[in-house]
Amino acid sequence: MTDQIERFDRFAAGYAQWWAPVLAPAVTELLDAAEPAMDGAERLLDIGTGTAQLALGAVARWPDVSIVGVDPSPGMAGVADAEADRLLTGVDRRRFRSVVAFADSLPFADGEFDGALSSFVFQLVPNRARALREARRVLKPGGILSYVTWLDDERVFTPDAIFDEVLDDLDIEPRGADGRSGDIPSVERAAGELRRAGFSNVSARDSVLEHHFPVDHYLAFLTEFDEETLFAELEPDVRERVVTTLRERLGALSPDQMTMRFPIVFASGRRSRA
Ligand SMILES: C[S@@+](CC[C@H](N)C(=O)[O-])C[C@H]1O[C@@H](n2cnc3c(N)ncnc32)[C@H](O)[C@@H]1O
Repeated sequence: MTDQIERFDRFAAGYAQWWAPVLAPAVTELLDAAEPAMDGAERLLDIGTGTAQLALGAVARWPDVSIVGVDPSPGMAGVADAEADRLLTGVDRRRFRSVVAFADSLPFADGEFDGALSSFVFQLVPNRARALREARRVLKPGGILSYVTWLDDERVFTPDAIFDEVLDDLDIEPRGADGRSGDIPSVERAAGELRRAGFSNVSARDSVLEHHFPVDHYLAFLTEFDEETLFAELEPDVRERVVTTLRERLGALSPDQMTMRFPIVFASGRRSRA
């Protein structure tokens, strides 16, 4: 778990540049879907705020809302605050604050929030059931949790498969799993997990997140974000060989093969009033 946080700390800047924009359409769709539930909402929680793209989107849309973004990575929380400083002024700036905390141990009283949102985080928490129960605890009766994240699937993005082949050819050990609970197994399971955590009015649906990676973008995504640790540990000449080989092999792919299409799930549930 600490490894995962250290990892997010290290690549917070790379995240903002190379990964947050890939997730952005799903974040916008989550905000669109949450819109009807925001009537009268004043205090929102963004669980695993990262660079705060979801939270700052909420501030821009809903003028009466203040939002707290929690993230266990001080590096990510720092970038979130810097993004808020860059994009917001005056009273709007005071409508966002970051708090360093884990999703399964939120430093808030019961029923503090009118709504909770989260994008691409519930696959990372070590115990999703506990994190969902914790989200429910801090919601007011009637408050809604809405999240989006990855749906488990067999589909392979060709550039990822090529990266694995290049590592294999050079006898480089890929990075191991790091204590995450994993992608949501199915839409039904997303709904079931919410019900088991005590939510009612549960709904879940799938969608696809699509993003075209130009070769240089994909290489920067790997070296500065997704596989930053692995690349940092390689000897300079080996790193150079990996990048050169990858650039060559990726250059032979069609635009369609360089387009990632991964399934995602939108899920929501209400803390019942009883
Ligand atoms: C893929 S990023 C998503 C960030 C942001 N929500 C977005 O959509 O751009 C995942 C974030 O979850 C945070 N995170 C990892 N483990 C967490 C946990 N146990 N509880 C809360 N947040 C966690 C990471 O530090 C990181 O900022």
